[in-house]
Amino acid sequence: MTDTLEPTTVDDAAGFAARDAAEIVAELTLEEKASLTSGASFWTTKAVERAGVPSIVLTDGPHGVRLQRGSADHLGIGDSVPATCFPPAVALGSTFDPELLERVGRALGEEARAEGVGVLLGPGINIKRSPLCGRNFEYLSEDPLVSGVLGSALVTGLQSQGVGASLKHFAANNQEHDRMRASSDVDPRPLREIYLRGFQRVVEDAQPWTVMCSYNRINGVYASEDPWLLTSVLRDEWGFEGLVVSDWGAVNDRVAGLPAGLDLEMPASDGRTDAQLVAAVRDGRLAESALDLAATRAVELAQKAVAGADADAAYDVDAHHALAREAAARGAVLLRNEGGLLPLDASKSVAVIGAFAETPRYQGAGSSLINPTRLDTALGAITEAAGEANVAYAAGFTIDGDAAADAALAADAVALAATKDVAVLFLGLPAAAESEGFDREHLQLPASQLALVEAVRAANPNTVVVLANGGVVELPFAGDVPAILEGWLGGQAGGSGIADVLYGVVNPSGRLAETIPLRLEDTPAFLDFPGEFGHVRYGEGLFVGYRWYDARDAAVRYPFGHGLSYTTFGYSGLSVEQDAAGLTVRVTVENTGARDGREVVQVYTGLAGSAVQRAPRSLAGFASVGLAAGESREVEVRVRREDLAYWDVRVDRWVVEGGELAVEVGASSRDIRLTGGVAIDGDDVRLPLSMESSIADVMADPIAGPAAAAALASLAGGMADTDVFTDEGMAKMMASFPIGRLVGFPGIPVSYEQIEQLIAAANAGTAQASQA
Ligand code: BGC
Repeated sequence: MTDTLEPTTVDDAAGFAARDAAEIVAELTLEEKASLTSGASFWTTKAVERAGVPSIVLTDGPHGVRLQRGSADHLGIGDSVPATCFPPAVALGSTFDPELLERVGRALGEEARAEGVGVLLGPGINIKRSPLCGRNFEYLSEDPLVSGVLGSALVTGLQSQGVGASLKHFAANNQEHDRMRASSDVDPRPLREIYLRGFQRVVEDAQPWTVMCSYNRINGVYASEDPWLLTSVLRDEWGFEGLVVSDWGAVNDRVAGLPAGLDLEMPASDGRTDAQLVAAVRDGRLAESALDLAATRAVELAQKAVAGADADAAYDVDAHHALAREAAARGAVLLRNEGGLLPLDASKSVAVIGAFAETPRYQGAGSSLINPTRLDTALGAITEAAGEANVAYAAGFTIDGDAAADAALAADAVALAATKDVAVLFLGLPAAAESEGFDREHLQLPASQLALVEAVRAANPNTVVVLANGGVVELPFAGDVPAILEGWLGGQAGGSGIADVLYGVVNPSGRLAETIPLRLEDTPAFLDFPGEFGHVRYGEGLFVGYRWYDARDAAVRYPFGHGLSYTTFGYSGLSVEQDAAGLTVRVTVENTGARDGREVVQVYTGLAGSAVQRAPRSLAGFASVGLAAGESREVEVRVRREDLAYWDVRVDRWVVEGGELAVEVGASSRDIRLTGGVAIDGDDVRLPLSMESSIADVMADPIAGPAAAAALASLAGGMADTDVFTDEGMAKMMASFPIGRLVGFPGIPVSYEQIEQLIAAANAGTAQASQA
């Protein structure tokens, strides 16, 4: 346990936690207040002892507690205390199961509390914009709804234990290349609808104690000093009540950052930036009230941490390992299973091939690196499941790809494969291929591994490929091997979790939270990643992940939402009901096979003929449902009305467009089982008319439209020599004509004043209607 969270006595702590934070701050000197706005050390905040404000510990995160007692660093180089290494977000995201993520969050909270940690730095919910992002293993999905729902569950679980979350990296931090400087240049709609949407959901649903601003700039402005991002959007629009902390070293200009909404700079600045704040208040560049606000939030955070702390807290290492195993198995995605090769029968002889079976790749490099309490290997777990006599192992390749050694290892492995009933081939990316801090260069598995697949399957057609990778890889052999199980990075119990799936102890229910493309060149951001000269243009706009492939009707290797089971599910009886808060989608799902299993029911919506650009379908709701063999159940999925909205750039707000909404229910984005629809009542967006309004705009206006139509009809009647308003083609051509420019056109006897009157009447009517 650390002693940093413990004020002198329990009574002191209770007294401190119960006081009004603003009152405490009012008693502090300017220097003391400034001191609360940056770290004391790499992982701690400053105390103000005379006022009873303790220091608290913030540490990584996200899928385990990385508490360093010795030398501190943020890239996972120094040792940390042992902690359960749960599966990283890539695997957790594939569960599509908020209930499971909440349990993982609770377990993380228990461990953090036992170690005296006040804030665990996670979850990371950035969108997987390109599969090349080196840190995709730390993120949940390419879809904002999945990221938001699962992120909320993690935060809720963690904070239920009296430990704060740090929702990161806010925002539009979707690559590692030049991550501390690059500007993510994103248009308003994708920014709101794709990149901020998940953050909004987690803030509104789960109120994380802290939000961590990212390193990058957004449309030219550093996140750490962006008042629009950190205050207007985060607090004023979404109602965030916690503290904003900088990513480690993200501060560019502290004096600009503080009033923008950056409360706490991490790590320590050795007093340098505190002094800058003091000087800025003294010479009038910074309002003292801004400093008071940040200091108050720092005190409030310390109060929450103190209230949540428990010096006697401990956790059950075995139970957490078991939970890590459950989560690893639940996150694995069965991509292919021709002829029902899986699950394996324990009596079958197995050639376990691939160095990852013995030396698992189970987490990613960088700040999230956990020192696990124990480590299961797939080889060990398979041997346990099938018995030593049935299992033989050959490395097949070296993880780092030593070409000379690989040839000999491959020959041994192929010979072994030929002698067994089944070959299970453990492939994956070496750790050096994907990490925090830099991006990947391609999506390929090492050449020696690809060659090995070909040789092994030629020797034994019953070949199962098991993958270990944090970001997706191209799978050129997908049509050639009967079974592929994507195990991602499975955490410390990834090996046993995979064995559970291979042997059918767990019926797979993982689904792709990220599309697996055929090739890198097909991916949405291919031409705009990672940018140049400090700018990355999000040129694909809204079309991220499946939205892109669907809009282009492009082939993919495996679509978003895909994942097989050892049983089958039937869908029937779709109904959609609308109320003021959204939709209730009901569907009956039946487990039509002979095994208990779990289905992820996915609800997509689309609006053909929309006035704005849209993807053909967007995920609007989902539910992970366990069904016993033969069981049938009505599943209800709630779709929030706000999840149907688009960001309207004309009025800078969310708008639900009315129309015939298609509601599709399926087992993946490309396995739609039932289609229904509902007539959606749209939100009213009326823009004031002006002389610049087109004739079409005027005609569409409920007040000006009929008046103008009547006027035009009488005009047309009196103008024998013109068919401007009666001819359909002409009318179409005139539709975009600004109404103010009609004046003076020959044959159109309309005065400027008449048009002004028409517009004024329409605008007055609109104002009246919106007040009513
Ligand atoms: C990472 C954060 C992490 C922090 C502290 C940064 O480099 O981006 O995710 O929480 O370091 O280690």
